[in-house]
Amino acid sequence: MAAPAVKDVQARLDELRAELNHHLYRYHVLDDPEISDAAYDRLYDELKALEDEYPDLITPDSPTQRVGAPPSDKFEKSRHLTPMGSLDKVTTDEALAKWAEDVRKRLDSDEPVAYVLEPKIDGSAINLVYEDGVFIRGATRGDGYQGEDVTPNLRTISAIPLQMRDLGDDLPAVLEVRGEVYMPLSGFRQFNERLTSEGKATAPNPRNAAAGSLRQKDSSITAARPLSIWIYGLGRRDGLGTATHWETLEWLREHGFRTNPFAERVDSIEDVMQACREWELRRAELDYEIDGIVIKVDSHEQQARLGALHERPRWARAFKWAPMTAQTKLLKIAIRVGRTGALNPWAMLEPVEVGGVTVSKATLHNEEDINRKQIREGDLVIVQRAGDVIPQVVGPAGAHRPGTKEFRMPKKCPLCGANVVKPEGEAMHRCPNRDCPSRGIETLNNWVMAAADIEGVGEQLVRRLWDVGLVRSVPDLYRLTKEQLLELDGFQEKSASNVIASIERSKEIPFRRVLYGLNIPDVGGVTAGVLARELGTIDRLLGATVEELQAIDGIGPDRAASIAEWFEDKANCNLVEELRGLGLRMEIGEEERPVEGPLSGQSYVITGTLESYTREEAKAALEALGAKVGDSVSKKTTGLVAGEGPGSKLAKAQKAGVPVLDERALQKLLGR
Ligand code: IVH
Repeated sequence: MAAPAVKDVQARLDELRAELNHHLYRYHVLDDPEISDAAYDRLYDELKALEDEYPDLITPDSPTQRVGAPPSDKFEKSRHLTPMGSLDKVTTDEALAKWAEDVRKRLDSDEPVAYVLEPKIDGSAINLVYEDGVFIRGATRGDGYQGEDVTPNLRTISAIPLQMRDLGDDLPAVLEVRGEVYMPLSGFRQFNERLTSEGKATAPNPRNAAAGSLRQKDSSITAARPLSIWIYGLGRRDGLGTATHWETLEWLREHGFRTNPFAERVDSIEDVMQACREWELRRAELDYEIDGIVIKVDSHEQQARLGALHERPRWARAFKWAPMTAQTKLLKIAIRVGRTGALNPWAMLEPVEVGGVTVSKATLHNEEDINRKQIREGDLVIVQRAGDVIPQVVGPAGAHRPGTKEFRMPKKCPLCGANVVKPEGEAMHRCPNRDCPSRGIETLNNWVMAAADIEGVGEQLVRRLWDVGLVRSVPDLYRLTKEQLLELDGFQEKSASNVIASIERSKEIPFRRVLYGLNIPDVGGVTAGVLARELGTIDRLLGATVEELQAIDGIGPDRAASIAEWFEDKANCNLVEELRGLGLRMEIGEEERPVEGPLSGQSYVITGTLESYTREEAKAALEALGAKVGDSVSKKTTGLVAGEGPGSKLAKAQKAGVPVLDERALQKLLGR
């Protein structure tokens, strides 16, 4: 068979290139692919084979020409045709309002102003130069005037068109297109997993990973990294006639650029504020990191009148959120022995700002978890705050520092020196010594901070009183005198009297709080309430058998056993007697007796997060109508109130055939 005429080859090449470019556009820009990856690969392979046969017909903008530039040993400087400015930031509604006011003053004050909002992508800023629609070169932002020419690396990013879509309109002779190269979170996780499996240092965050990938000397390395780009504006525009930023974004999208689909246009600064609030919640749903919202005055003509100061446009602001992660040094993994003997590790950190607060401590879980996450003393680590929860150490930020070692729990209890044990099947190490001072200290802490909530007495004072030997148990606390306090540094007549008075007042706490403060294993606040209500006095509790306890709604067999066992211990009975002798309440008061009401005889358990009540409020509302509220689901439970994130109680209720109430059903039950 005769070889095809060069004319036909050229036609097929054009066709294949156009088709491939079309599919790249559908995939990256429209997020709506028409063909499978395999079908795309077949077209690509055909093009590649044809080009291999006719190398003279290869053009630089062919989809095959994204990889293959020879590695360079340094990046050339590249001067931007127009400077790449930066954005002034605001962090509050007040600052936004002030900016809007300034904009209004500088324009005609009754002139309408529309704004465009876009996610602020946390990646690496890039300037792309197109001449007659063809990608010529691209550079990093650098100092805003000149950056590094990373063209071969940018060419490997398939979301960057090598050629703009030709819609038959006149393309500007020279166009600077600006955007942010980023690494999607899904790609970032895989990338770090790969690095870990190769024994290499991980990247601390997606921004670093993107910036590092762009600065590879060998573009085949960049090609293997999961990078993408969002385009958000122009530099030099050579007569491009769009009148607003919104139109410009549309124009860019039509011409093949990946603009963010979440951009929105609003007509007032109040709408801007509302949108920023919504964005803060939506932020976590995205597959890329954003650190705020960019707000731009929409009209190009208004932008021109507003101008810029030191390359920072007066027509735009970045509304930034405090970052929820930060890097800092893990100074030491300290151990705290809890009131049940568990050795709880926690991280002592070099203080660092995370999400607007200074963090110097963070929780860690247990030895296995610490080592699985490769967390080591002396390393730089990533600290994260999510919602209101206590900060956590996520993992190391990069390679381990020289000399760091895997974490090992101490063999001996840091407070009493007893040999630490790790019970079979448990994650926590424990101090087995029941007389370990830490248990005493933690029991005291729990008493003063939670059970009795004694004003003016906190962890620090407990520790001092313990150390000087004045208070080694809860009864000791009630025997403390003003004279003893006055011997301690820093106490004066008044402060000492206040402390003694508030300790004295705490003798009035209800019976259920006394029970809670006894530190009976498995008895938290709710169970203490159930026991107080059902048995009424400590004497009935002292005499109760496992069977009797188990018969109480909300007390399962395990809990019944641990309660009975606790009261069998002579030392515990003595503690109860001592407290009784000191005047603490050992029976239920009038105010604790269940009220008679429409829900008398019914019992509920509450789980998960409710929207319009805290769990305490829901409990109080149910109790006010006569219902009992317990901690664990049994066949006798009338209903389980389940909010968001219900956990195992929901499954248990369903298995036991206990009706499940959502928040609306609860409202109805409460007659609201
Ligand atoms: S507009 C005059 N829009 O934020 C500068 N910037 O300080 C106009 N960024 O490094 C920039 N997302 O790379 C703009 N949607 C967005 C952006 C964005 C991220 C980056 C930009 C620059 C920094 C602004």
